[in-house]
Amino acid sequence: MIKIAIIIGSTRPGRNGETIARWVYEIAKQRNDAAFELIDIANSNLPLLDEPKPPLFGKYVKSHTWGWSRKIAAFDGYVFVTPGYNQATSGALKNAIDFLYREWNNKMAGFAGYGMSGGTRAVENLRLNMGELAVADVRAEDNISLHIDFENFNGSLSRGKGLCHAGSGCRLEWCVEDSAGS
Ligand SMILES: Cc1cc2nc3c(=O)[nH]c(=O)nc-3n(C[C@H](O)[C@H](O)[C@H](O)COP(=O)(O)O)c2cc1C
Repeated sequence: MIKIAIIIGSTRPGRNGETIARWVYEIAKQRNDAAFELIDIANSNLPLLDEPKPPLFGKYVKSHTWGWSRKIAAFDGYVFVTPGYNQATSGALKNAIDFLYREWNNKMAGFAGYGMSGGTRAVENLRLNMGELAVADVRAEDNISLHIDFENFNGSLSRGKGLCHAGSGCRLEWCVEDSAGS
């Protein structure tokens, strides 16, 4: 069965990213054509990139890199749940992506961006990265606004709007179908 990782792109204490990733995961779990797993980079104990050789060579010397490599290699596709930090993705997510190369190659990626302005530029930023990693990105994306879709900016997601729910289902479908075809 197709395996999709939903990657929490924020490690900040009190982060909104976990709420959003769990929301994506709950929607994803309703599907029976793929298996989904939440991946929290905060639990992967990755320091700032500390491998002597570029990841393209796969000559890792650190055990944390091998652990991360095995985890990421096991999936067919990824949904990156990314905050907007200064109009880019988070340093933590970019660092986690940079650790590896071949593990990402020829896979699929979908995106759920969030922030004051929906994380749109963070997702754009990630699409550039995906091109370099030979990852095919899903055209549509979720953009979750802390103004519109959240209650009290950092409380719970507002389920009343409906818009996000419909959106994420659509993105996931593309991600699963395209992973199956890749
Ligand atoms: C370092 C930092 C930079 C931010 N920059 C932006 C920004 O450029 N645009 C925006 O709309 N929101 C910005 N925000 C707001 C975040 O998108 C918002 O706080 C979001 O909840 C952060 O994700 P997190 O809670 O999972 O860490 C920024 C927040 C932080 C912590």
